[in-house]
Amino acid sequence: MTDGTTSTTYPPSEEFAAQANITTADFDAAAADRVGFWADRSRELLDWEVPFTETLDWSNPPFARWFADGKLNVAANCLDRHVTAGLGDRVAIHFEGEPGDTRTLTYSQLTTEVKKAANALASLGVTQGDRVAIYMPMIPETVIAMLACARLGAPHSVVFGGFSSDALRSRIQDAEARVVITADGGFRRGKPSSLKPAVDTALSAGDTPVEHVVVVKRTGEDVDWTEGRDTWWSDLVDSQSEEHQPQAFEAENPLFILYTSGTTGKPKGILHTSGGYLTQAAFSMRATFDLKPETDVFWCTADVGWVTGHSYIVYGPLASGATQVIYEGTPDTPDQGRWWQVVEKYGVTILYTAPTAIRTCMKWGDDIPAQYDLSSLRLLGSVGEPINPEAWTWYRRVIGGDTCPVVDTWWQTETGAHMIAPMPGVLGTKPGSSQRPIPGISVKVVDDEGRELGPDEPGLLVIDEPWPSMLRGVYGDPERFKETYWSRFDGVYFAGDGARYDQDGDIWFLGRVDDVMNVSGHRLSTTEIESSLVAHDAVAEAAVVGAADETSGQAVYAFVILRAGAQQSEDMEQTLRAHVGADIGAIAKPKRVFIVDELPKTRSGKIVRRLLKDLAEDKGIGDASTLADQSVMEVIHRQVTGS
Ligand code: PRX
Repeated sequence: MTDGTTSTTYPPSEEFAAQANITTADFDAAAADRVGFWADRSRELLDWEVPFTETLDWSNPPFARWFADGKLNVAANCLDRHVTAGLGDRVAIHFEGEPGDTRTLTYSQLTTEVKKAANALASLGVTQGDRVAIYMPMIPETVIAMLACARLGAPHSVVFGGFSSDALRSRIQDAEARVVITADGGFRRGKPSSLKPAVDTALSAGDTPVEHVVVVKRTGEDVDWTEGRDTWWSDLVDSQSEEHQPQAFEAENPLFILYTSGTTGKPKGILHTSGGYLTQAAFSMRATFDLKPETDVFWCTADVGWVTGHSYIVYGPLASGATQVIYEGTPDTPDQGRWWQVVEKYGVTILYTAPTAIRTCMKWGDDIPAQYDLSSLRLLGSVGEPINPEAWTWYRRVIGGDTCPVVDTWWQTETGAHMIAPMPGVLGTKPGSSQRPIPGISVKVVDDEGRELGPDEPGLLVIDEPWPSMLRGVYGDPERFKETYWSRFDGVYFAGDGARYDQDGDIWFLGRVDDVMNVSGHRLSTTEIESSLVAHDAVAEAAVVGAADETSGQAVYAFVILRAGAQQSEDMEQTLRAHVGADIGAIAKPKRVFIVDELPKTRSGKIVRRLLKDLAEDKGIGDASTLADQSVMEVIHRQVTGS
């Protein structure tokens, strides 16, 4: 089944197909005139203050400009225009806090809050082009803060709340943010989990340009206060005027920077701009999710700290005028039925989550979701890593009542929005495959020489035509942008993923082909974790691999050589795990750290990680013929297995 050649497909029901937003006519239109197709979508889905006359400028690749002579305000497209259209009373956000507190914000109320927050930021001197760092839990103020930045034309840089103070500091420094918006903390697994102390630590050395820290009160826990720098959100925002005139900015005005792991140690600041990004985010809501904003209740379970939260909690749903659920906490607090209780309570119709969460719920058992009424659901989405057919089928059967289409969406921080996913009213969905590019997107599977491959030949995924929501660069580093994505093959975007077509022409993803790991749908770099380990006093050398894991997709395994004189103690493994957790964030903590005497290296000194991955996956010693000293693997194997 997993070989992708002979799996069942689930055609949409006649009823679903009859009402679907996307039909084969959309594919035909996009095939006939791809660029014109996007121009039409952009005019149809967005309000342009100054209409664009040129759709795509690709005269200086890889630097694309979409809709460049048009002007719009992204926040006004997500808010004001819905109110003007008479939809002010529609619920924009049903917020469900982890402790059970709730808040409902209509489009009118959300618009007012964003206007006040924009006035507040402006009062701190934030203006077009200024970067604002956002380090927040999953609460409405996070969305409000992002939209307030967008309204002012000031790019935000959201840093996931699970990242350490060091990770936060380096991102603040790279983006040169002058303002940080944070909270005292959020609720996580039934307890307050603090955020403000990490901001204080990040800023303590005084080596960032931050002048203001705005703090939302969420948990009510005590926080340290730096007079003159720190302000409570409520003190700053509540008294602001509810009037704020949105200014129209150029389509290519930067909207946000979002850091993601690459193959080298330092995370890259992926830069997205306004008009093209919003066009594709909104289009994919309509296309992949078949969104009907009048009746659907959408729920994306991602954290706003990742790109999925940017595109499918903030910009996609709100530009579409959708009603959505935002949930603060974990799926098992207070019990393993929490998500399904939320679906029942709000009548969620479209659910978007990650394979790792689906596998976890699968492990908890069918009887838990069976206790809730999930009949409101009509479409299910998956994102973040390949979904194994078993999890896909369980998701459809147990959560989707065997009727909901399951759309497996492939995309990346860099692509901004969905790129490959079945259009649910057009194509039968197939367990484990992301299937086809969405209308207007062109991709290929190629070999190492860039030659296109046929069915069943594993190769590399490339995107061979520019797309509206493509990254516009790596912040402050145009060379790295060219080198990372555009140098492997001439003129096409190299995604870093292995892929294969099956006999039906559907695409199957085979995982990353570089040193990027995917743990619970989160992107981590082997090099970044290795750098963190060798920065510890006790460590001389480190090699990190992502090995297959039943629940999280991949898990981090580290192999470490200690410095001469460092104590080889029992808790060294825990010490090093904790060190990485503190240095990067809990998500980066290795599952195991093996202390070894040697690492497998080629004659030229390159570590052969493939062999360590085999060991971590219990596959024994693989082909060690390229090693300078083949006996090394025997020694490591004995040390790892304790035999
Ligand atoms: O390897 C692919 C995997 O996640 C990578 C992108 O990670 P990130 O930028 O953090 O964005 C995650 C959310 C969009 C890709 O290079 N990936 C993402 N979705 C899928 C996937 N792999 C297979 N199937 C997917 N549906």
